Amino acid sequence: MAGKSKVLVIGGTGYIGKFIVEASAKEGHPTFALVRESTVSDPVKGKVIDNFKNIGVQLLYGDLYDHESLVKAIKQVDVVISAVGHMQLGDQVKIIAAIKEAGNVKRFFPSEFGTDVDRHHAVELAKSAFAVKAQIRRTIEAEGIPYTYVAANCFAGYFLPNLSQAGATSPPRDKAVILGDG
Ligand SMILES: NC(=O)c1ccc[n+]([C@@H]2O[C@H](COP(=O)([O-])OP(=O)(O)OC[C@H]3O[C@@H](n4cnc5c(N)ncnc54)[C@H](OP(=O)(O)O)[C@@H]3O)[C@@H](O)[C@H]2O)c1
Repeated sequence: MAGKSKVLVIGGTGYIGKFIVEASAKEGHPTFALVRESTVSDPVKGKVIDNFKNIGVQLLYGDLYDHESLVKAIKQVDVVISAVGHMQLGDQVKIIAAIKEAGNVKRFFPSEFGTDVDRHHAVELAKSAFAVKAQIRRTIEAEGIPYTYVAANCFAGYFLPNLSQAGATSPPRDKAVILGDG
């Protein structure tokens, strides 16, 4: 498979990760997904994992908090894409440490897929999350790991259904809060 990279996705069973895994496999890249064993038996995520198997994705069992499993998975690929969620953003230092130890990675995509976190005027709570993502950028750069930062801006499918109202699962009927200066 000339010109194709071996790609590992960490966080591939998440909201965005599943699209990245599918796109990578459909582009013909040998694609690996690091999955937690406990997730395989989850009724919803189990179906996502079944789809991965059907499209030829190789499952690697592991955990962000299990260093050996990360290094073992990373040693098998050229490219690492992280799509871990909000709660794990700062802990991507563990992926960075494993990439350094493995020593073979040609490119790392940290979990971004939103606002360019070096160029924004966000208010809280986004501001704090963006600061964590920016700190991960600085760590990657300091470690000399080749990287790509994907700034995809807001996904309408994610924010439109509740008009960006934190915690709401449907559009507000009486009042919508617009953050910042509007
Ligand atoms: N631009 C936008 O509008 C937009 C919208 C949403 C998100 N985002 C960004 O996209 C990125 C991903 O967010 P998301 O909402 O897709 O995340 P998510 O749905 O919360 O998915 C998190 C992923 O991380 C995995 N994970 C959690 N803990 C783990 C661990 N200990 N070891 C290994 N994997 C672990 C989860 O696995 P399990 O399945 O096992 O739990 C899941 O696959 C974030 O950077 C977020 O800011 C952007």
